[in-house]
Amino acid sequence: MIANKIVLAGGNGYLGSVLAEYYSPRCVEVVLLSRRPALPRGNIRTVVWDALREGPWVQELEHADMLINLCGKNVNCRYNEKNRSEIVSSRVVPTTLLGRAIAACAAPPALWINVTSATIYRHAEDRPQDEETGEIGSGFSIDVCNRWEEAFYAAPTPATRKVALRMGIVLGRRDGVFPRLRNMVRFGLGGKQGNGRQYVSWIHEHDVARITEWLLQHPELQGHINCVAPSAVTNAELMRHLRQACKMPIGLPAPAWLLEIGALLIGTETELILKSRWVTPKRLLGSGFKFRFEKLEDAVRDVVG
Ligand SMILES: NC(=O)c1ccc[n+]([C@@H]2O[C@H](COP(=O)([O-])OP(=O)(O)OC[C@H]3O[C@@H](n4cnc5c(N)ncnc54)[C@H](OP(=O)(O)O)[C@@H]3O)[C@@H](O)[C@H]2O)c1
Repeated sequence: MIANKIVLAGGNGYLGSVLAEYYSPRCVEVVLLSRRPALPRGNIRTVVWDALREGPWVQELEHADMLINLCGKNVNCRYNEKNRSEIVSSRVVPTTLLGRAIAACAAPPALWINVTSATIYRHAEDRPQDEETGEIGSGFSIDVCNRWEEAFYAAPTPATRKVALRMGIVLGRRDGVFPRLRNMVRFGLGGKQGNGRQYVSWIHEHDVARITEWLLQHPELQGHINCVAPSAVTNAELMRHLRQACKMPIGLPAPAWLLEIGALLIGTETELILKSRWVTPKRLLGSGFKFRFEKLEDAVRDVVG
Protein backbone atom coordinates (compact mmCIF):
# COMPACT_ATOMS: atom_id res chain seq x y z
CA MET A 1 0.00 0.00 0.00
CA ILE A 2 1.39 3.39 -0.94
CA ALA A 3 -1.42 5.44 0.59
CA ASN A 4 -4.46 5.28 2.77
CA LYS A 5 -6.91 7.49 0.87
CA ILE A 6 -6.81 9.16 -2.55
CA VAL A 7 -9.60 11.56 -3.58
CA LEU A 8 -10.31 12.20 -7.28
CA ALA A 9 -12.53 15.25 -7.89
CA GLY A 10 -14.24 14.90 -11.29
CA GLY A 11 -13.07 11.29 -11.02
CA ASN A 12 -15.86 9.65 -13.02
CA GLY A 13 -14.45 10.79 -16.37
CA TYR A 14 -11.66 9.33 -18.51
CA LEU A 15 -8.55 10.23 -16.48
CA GLY A 16 -10.44 9.58 -13.27
CA SER A 17 -11.11 5.99 -14.31
CA VAL A 18 -7.44 5.51 -15.30
CA LEU A 19 -6.28 6.82 -11.91
CA ALA A 20 -8.94 4.96 -9.90
CA GLU A 21 -7.90 1.64 -11.49
CA TYR A 22 -4.24 2.40 -10.87
CA TYR A 23 -4.69 3.33 -7.23
CA SER A 24 -7.35 0.77 -6.27
CA PRO A 25 -4.80 -2.02 -5.58
CA ARG A 26 -2.28 0.44 -4.11
CA CYS A 27 -4.49 2.26 -1.56
CA VAL A 28 -6.93 1.43 1.19
CA GLU A 29 -9.64 3.48 -0.53
CA VAL A 30 -10.25 5.67 -3.58
CA VAL A 31 -13.00 8.29 -3.34
CA LEU A 32 -14.46 9.90 -6.48
CA LEU A 33 -16.28 13.23 -6.24
CA SER A 34 -18.89 13.37 -8.97
CA ARG A 35 -22.13 15.18 -9.73
CA ARG A 36 -23.65 11.80 -10.62
CA PRO A 37 -24.06 8.87 -8.23
CA ALA A 38 -22.33 5.58 -9.12
CA LEU A 39 -22.19 2.15 -7.52
CA PRO A 40 -19.07 1.30 -5.51
CA ARG A 41 -16.49 -0.97 -7.19
CA GLY A 42 -14.29 -2.74 -4.65
CA ASN A 43 -12.56 -0.02 -2.65
CA ILE A 44 -13.59 2.73 -5.14
CA ARG A 45 -16.64 4.69 -4.06
CA THR A 46 -18.37 7.77 -5.42
CA VAL A 47 -19.47 10.65 -3.22
CA VAL A 48 -21.89 13.09 -4.83
CA TRP A 49 -21.16 16.82 -4.75
CA ASP A 50 -22.47 19.70 -6.81
CA ALA A 51 -18.98 21.18 -7.31
CA LEU A 52 -20.45 24.57 -6.36
CA ARG A 53 -20.63 24.61 -2.58
CA GLU A 54 -19.46 22.85 0.55
CA GLY A 55 -21.40 19.81 1.76
CA PRO A 56 -20.85 16.48 3.52
CA TRP A 57 -18.29 15.59 0.82
CA VAL A 58 -15.79 17.95 2.51
CA GLN A 59 -15.25 15.29 5.19
CA GLU A 60 -13.71 13.06 2.53
CA LEU A 61 -10.70 15.37 2.30
CA GLU A 62 -9.77 14.84 5.95
CA HIS A 63 -6.62 12.70 6.28
CA ALA A 64 -6.45 12.10 2.51
CA ASP A 65 -2.91 11.47 1.24
CA MET A 66 -3.65 13.09 -2.10
CA LEU A 67 -6.42 15.02 -3.86
CA ILE A 68 -6.34 15.10 -7.66
CA ASN A 69 -8.72 17.56 -9.28
CA LEU A 70 -9.83 16.56 -12.78
CA CYS A 71 -12.90 18.77 -13.16
CA GLY A 72 -13.50 20.52 -16.44
CA LYS A 73 -16.02 20.60 -19.27
CA ASN A 74 -14.62 18.78 -22.30
CA VAL A 75 -12.96 21.28 -24.65
CA ASN A 76 -13.96 19.25 -27.70
CA CYS A 77 -16.77 21.65 -28.65
CA ARG A 78 -17.33 24.92 -30.54
CA TYR A 79 -16.01 27.90 -28.62
CA ASN A 80 -19.28 29.86 -28.66
CA GLU A 81 -20.15 32.18 -25.79
CA LYS A 82 -22.03 29.57 -23.75
CA ASN A 83 -19.35 26.90 -24.12
CA ARG A 84 -16.56 29.38 -23.38
CA SER A 85 -18.24 30.39 -20.17
CA GLU A 86 -18.77 26.73 -19.13
CA ILE A 87 -15.20 25.74 -20.05
CA VAL A 88 -13.89 28.44 -17.70
CA SER A 89 -16.36 28.05 -14.82
CA SER A 90 -16.19 24.22 -14.78
CA ARG A 91 -12.46 24.59 -14.01
CA VAL A 92 -12.22 27.73 -11.90
CA VAL A 93 -15.27 27.14 -9.65
CA PRO A 94 -14.38 23.57 -8.47
CA THR A 95 -10.72 24.58 -8.02
CA THR A 96 -11.67 27.54 -5.80
CA LEU A 97 -14.16 25.40 -3.89
CA LEU A 98 -11.62 22.65 -3.25
CA GLY A 99 -9.15 25.27 -2.02
CA ARG A 100 -11.71 26.57 0.48
CA ALA A 101 -12.57 23.04 1.61
CA ILE A 102 -8.90 22.15 2.13
CA ALA A 103 -8.33 25.35 4.11
CA ALA A 104 -11.17 24.34 6.46
CA CYS A 105 -9.84 20.79 7.06
CA ALA A 106 -8.42 19.80 10.45
CA ALA A 107 -6.13 17.26 8.70
CA PRO A 108 -5.94 18.43 5.07
CA PRO A 109 -4.62 16.31 2.18
CA ALA A 110 -0.82 16.21 2.09
CA LEU A 111 -0.78 16.84 -1.67
CA TRP A 112 -3.21 18.56 -4.06
CA ILE A 113 -2.62 18.00 -7.75
CA ASN A 114 -4.70 20.16 -10.10
CA VAL A 115 -4.60 18.66 -13.57
CA THR A 116 -4.29 21.63 -15.93
CA SER A 117 -3.06 21.77 -19.51
CA ALA A 118 0.19 21.96 -21.47
CA THR A 119 -1.67 24.16 -23.94
CA ILE A 120 -0.79 27.10 -21.64
CA TYR A 121 2.43 27.55 -23.66
CA ARG A 122 2.53 29.44 -26.94
CA HIS A 123 2.32 27.85 -30.40
CA ALA A 124 5.93 26.60 -30.71
CA GLU A 125 7.63 25.18 -33.78
CA ASP A 126 11.06 26.64 -32.92
CA ARG A 127 11.95 25.16 -29.53
CA PRO A 128 10.42 23.06 -26.76
CA GLN A 129 8.75 24.83 -23.84
CA ASP A 130 9.85 23.86 -20.35
CA GLU A 131 8.64 25.03 -16.96
CA GLU A 132 11.39 27.63 -16.54
CA THR A 133 11.92 29.17 -19.96
CA GLY A 134 8.63 28.26 -21.66
CA GLU A 135 6.57 31.23 -22.85
CA ILE A 136 2.90 31.54 -22.02
CA GLY A 137 0.82 32.09 -25.15
CA SER A 138 -2.30 34.17 -25.78
CA GLY A 139 -5.86 33.45 -26.84
CA PHE A 140 -8.93 31.80 -25.35
CA SER A 141 -7.45 28.40 -24.36
CA ILE A 142 -4.50 30.07 -22.68
CA ASP A 143 -6.79 32.49 -20.82
CA VAL A 144 -8.60 29.42 -19.52
CA CYS A 145 -5.33 27.86 -18.32
CA ASN A 146 -4.20 31.11 -16.71
CA ARG A 147 -7.45 31.59 -14.82
CA TRP A 148 -7.43 27.90 -13.79
CA GLU A 149 -3.89 28.10 -12.39
CA GLU A 150 -4.52 31.53 -10.79
CA ALA A 151 -7.50 30.07 -8.90
CA PHE A 152 -5.34 27.12 -7.86
CA TYR A 153 -2.40 29.14 -6.56
CA ALA A 154 -4.68 31.72 -4.92
CA ALA A 155 -6.11 29.06 -2.61
CA PRO A 156 -4.50 29.43 0.83
CA THR A 157 -3.54 25.86 1.78
CA PRO A 158 -0.36 26.17 3.88
CA ALA A 159 -0.41 22.55 5.07
CA THR A 160 -0.99 21.10 1.58
CA ARG A 161 1.67 20.84 -1.10
CA LYS A 162 0.35 21.92 -4.52
CA VAL A 163 1.21 20.81 -8.05
CA ALA A 164 -0.37 22.19 -11.22
CA LEU A 165 0.15 19.27 -13.58
CA ARG A 166 0.25 20.68 -17.12
CA MET A 167 -1.06 17.71 -19.07
CA GLY A 168 -0.34 16.93 -22.72
CA ILE A 169 -2.64 14.87 -24.94
CA VAL A 170 -3.25 11.58 -23.16
CA LEU A 171 -2.97 8.38 -25.20
CA GLY A 172 -5.02 5.49 -23.90
CA ARG A 173 -7.10 2.60 -25.10
CA ARG A 174 -10.58 3.47 -24.02
CA ASP A 175 -11.05 7.17 -24.28
CA GLY A 176 -9.50 10.54 -24.89
CA VAL A 177 -8.19 11.59 -28.27
CA PHE A 178 -6.71 8.28 -29.37
CA PRO A 179 -9.86 6.28 -30.28
CA ARG A 180 -11.04 9.18 -32.49
CA LEU A 181 -7.70 9.36 -34.33
CA ARG A 182 -7.63 5.57 -34.74
CA ASN A 183 -11.09 5.63 -36.34
CA MET A 184 -9.96 8.31 -38.81
CA VAL A 185 -6.93 6.18 -39.72
CA ARG A 186 -9.08 3.09 -40.25
CA PHE A 187 -11.33 5.06 -42.64
CA GLY A 188 -8.26 6.03 -44.69
CA LEU A 189 -8.29 9.62 -43.38
CA GLY A 190 -5.08 9.29 -41.39
CA GLY A 191 -2.79 11.60 -43.37
CA LYS A 192 -1.15 14.70 -41.94
CA GLN A 193 -3.47 17.41 -40.64
CA GLY A 194 -2.82 20.99 -41.77
CA ASN A 195 0.83 21.23 -42.84
CA GLY A 196 1.68 18.39 -40.42
CA ARG A 197 4.59 20.37 -38.93
CA GLN A 198 2.78 21.25 -35.69
CA TYR A 199 4.10 19.40 -32.62
CA VAL A 200 2.03 17.07 -30.49
CA SER A 201 3.08 16.67 -26.85
CA TRP A 202 1.57 13.39 -25.79
CA ILE A 203 1.69 11.16 -22.72
CA HIS A 204 0.65 7.53 -22.22
CA GLU A 205 -2.15 7.15 -19.65
CA HIS A 206 -0.09 4.67 -17.59
CA ASP A 207 2.68 7.25 -17.23
CA VAL A 208 0.11 9.85 -16.11
CA ALA A 209 -0.80 7.56 -13.21
CA ARG A 210 2.87 6.78 -12.45
CA ILE A 211 3.70 10.50 -12.44
CA THR A 212 1.02 11.23 -9.82
CA GLU A 213 2.53 8.46 -7.65
CA TRP A 214 6.01 9.95 -8.22
CA LEU A 215 4.73 13.35 -7.07
CA LEU A 216 3.22 11.76 -3.97
CA GLN A 217 6.58 10.23 -3.12
CA HIS A 218 8.70 13.31 -3.86
CA PRO A 219 7.79 16.12 -1.44
CA GLU A 220 10.41 18.42 -2.97
CA LEU A 221 8.27 18.73 -6.13
CA GLN A 222 5.69 21.50 -6.17
CA GLY A 223 4.40 24.27 -8.43
CA HIS A 224 3.81 23.71 -12.14
CA ILE A 225 5.10 20.54 -13.74
CA ASN A 226 4.81 19.51 -17.39
CA CYS A 227 3.20 16.10 -17.79
CA VAL A 228 4.28 15.05 -21.29
CA ALA A 229 6.57 12.35 -22.69
CA PRO A 230 10.13 13.55 -23.45
CA SER A 231 9.75 13.00 -27.20
CA ALA A 232 7.13 15.29 -28.75
CA VAL A 233 6.48 14.47 -32.42
CA THR A 234 5.08 16.39 -35.35
CA ASN A 235 1.50 15.74 -36.40
CA ALA A 236 2.81 14.09 -39.62
CA GLU A 237 4.91 11.67 -37.53
CA LEU A 238 2.02 10.94 -35.18
CA MET A 239 -0.27 10.07 -38.08
CA ARG A 240 2.44 7.93 -39.73
CA HIS A 241 2.90 5.90 -36.53
CA LEU A 242 -0.86 5.45 -36.21
CA ARG A 243 -1.13 4.26 -39.82
CA GLN A 244 1.70 1.78 -39.27
CA ALA A 245 0.20 0.47 -36.03
CA CYS A 246 -3.22 0.08 -37.69
CA LYS A 247 -1.60 -1.49 -40.80
CA MET A 248 -3.25 1.12 -42.99
CA PRO A 249 -1.05 1.82 -46.05
CA ILE A 250 -2.80 5.02 -47.12
CA GLY A 251 -4.01 8.11 -45.31
CA LEU A 252 -5.59 11.11 -47.00
CA PRO A 253 -4.14 14.39 -45.70
CA ALA A 254 -6.53 17.02 -44.37
CA PRO A 255 -5.51 20.59 -45.27
CA ALA A 256 -6.41 23.37 -42.83
CA TRP A 257 -9.40 24.63 -44.87
CA LEU A 258 -10.93 21.15 -44.92
CA LEU A 259 -10.39 20.80 -41.17
CA GLU A 260 -12.22 24.11 -40.65
CA ILE A 261 -15.27 22.77 -42.49
CA GLY A 262 -15.07 19.41 -40.70
CA ALA A 263 -14.73 21.09 -37.29
CA LEU A 264 -17.82 23.20 -37.99
CA LEU A 265 -19.81 20.11 -39.01
CA ILE A 266 -18.86 17.96 -36.01
CA GLY A 267 -18.90 20.83 -33.49
CA THR A 268 -15.26 21.22 -32.52
CA GLU A 269 -12.33 23.62 -33.05
CA THR A 270 -9.30 23.20 -35.33
CA GLU A 271 -7.05 24.69 -32.64
CA LEU A 272 -7.12 21.32 -30.91
CA ILE A 273 -5.35 19.83 -33.95
CA LEU A 274 -3.44 22.72 -35.50
CA LYS A 275 -1.80 24.39 -32.51
CA SER A 276 1.84 23.36 -32.18
CA ARG A 277 2.33 22.13 -28.62
CA TRP A 278 6.03 21.48 -28.18
CA VAL A 279 6.45 20.94 -24.47
CA THR A 280 9.18 19.13 -22.54
CA PRO A 281 9.04 17.56 -19.03
CA LYS A 282 12.21 19.20 -17.71
CA ARG A 283 11.28 19.06 -14.03
CA LEU A 284 10.16 15.43 -14.08
CA LEU A 285 13.34 14.35 -15.89
CA GLY A 286 15.44 16.47 -13.53
CA SER A 287 13.85 14.73 -10.55
CA GLY A 288 14.84 11.32 -11.93
CA PHE A 289 11.45 10.14 -13.20
CA LYS A 290 11.76 7.33 -15.76
CA PHE A 291 9.01 7.19 -18.35
CA ARG A 292 7.64 3.75 -19.17
CA PHE A 293 6.58 5.05 -22.61
CA GLU A 294 9.25 7.43 -23.85
CA LYS A 295 8.85 6.87 -27.58
CA LEU A 296 5.60 7.40 -29.42
CA GLU A 297 5.93 4.13 -31.37
CA ASP A 298 5.93 2.13 -28.09
CA ALA A 299 2.94 4.03 -26.72
CA VAL A 300 0.97 3.65 -29.95
CA ARG A 301 1.82 -0.06 -30.21
CA ASP A 302 0.57 -0.51 -26.66
CA VAL A 303 -2.73 1.32 -27.11
CA VAL A 304 -3.45 -0.24 -30.51
CA GLY A 305 -2.60 -3.69 -29.13
N1 LIG B 1 -7.57 13.74 -21.50
C1 LIG B 1 -6.63 14.56 -21.98
O1 LIG B 1 -5.98 14.28 -23.01
C2 LIG B 1 -6.35 15.86 -21.24
C3 LIG B 1 -5.28 16.65 -21.68
C4 LIG B 1 -5.01 17.85 -21.02
C5 LIG B 1 -5.80 18.26 -19.94
N2 LIG B 1 -6.85 17.48 -19.56
C6 LIG B 1 -7.68 17.95 -18.44
O2 LIG B 1 -7.79 16.94 -17.46
C7 LIG B 1 -9.07 16.97 -16.84
C8 LIG B 1 -9.70 15.57 -16.92
O3 LIG B 1 -9.75 15.19 -18.29
P1 LIG B 1 -10.61 13.92 -18.78
O4 LIG B 1 -10.06 13.54 -20.10
O5 LIG B 1 -10.72 12.93 -17.69
O6 LIG B 1 -12.01 14.62 -19.00
P2 LIG B 1 -13.50 14.02 -18.84
O7 LIG B 1 -13.54 12.57 -19.13
O8 LIG B 1 -14.39 14.92 -19.64
O9 LIG B 1 -13.79 14.23 -17.27
C9 LIG B 1 -13.91 15.50 -16.72
C10 LIG B 1 -14.72 15.44 -15.45
O10 LIG B 1 -15.00 16.82 -15.10
C11 LIG B 1 -16.21 16.85 -14.42
N3 LIG B 1 -16.92 18.09 -14.77
C12 LIG B 1 -17.31 18.53 -15.98
N4 LIG B 1 -17.93 19.71 -15.87
C13 LIG B 1 -17.93 20.02 -14.54
C14 LIG B 1 -18.45 21.11 -13.78
N5 LIG B 1 -19.12 22.12 -14.32
N6 LIG B 1 -18.27 21.07 -12.44
C15 LIG B 1 -17.62 20.04 -11.86
N7 LIG B 1 -17.14 18.98 -12.51
C16 LIG B 1 -17.29 18.98 -13.85
C17 LIG B 1 -17.03 15.65 -14.85
O11 LIG B 1 -17.42 15.01 -13.64
P3 LIG B 1 -18.92 14.53 -13.28
O12 LIG B 1 -19.76 14.74 -14.52
O13 LIG B 1 -18.75 13.10 -12.89
O14 LIG B 1 -19.34 15.39 -12.14
C18 LIG B 1 -16.06 14.75 -15.60
O15 LIG B 1 -15.99 13.46 -15.05
C19 LIG B 1 -9.88 18.05 -17.59
O16 LIG B 1 -9.85 19.24 -16.86
C20 LIG B 1 -9.11 18.22 -18.89
O17 LIG B 1 -9.23 19.52 -19.43
C21 LIG B 1 -7.13 16.30 -20.17
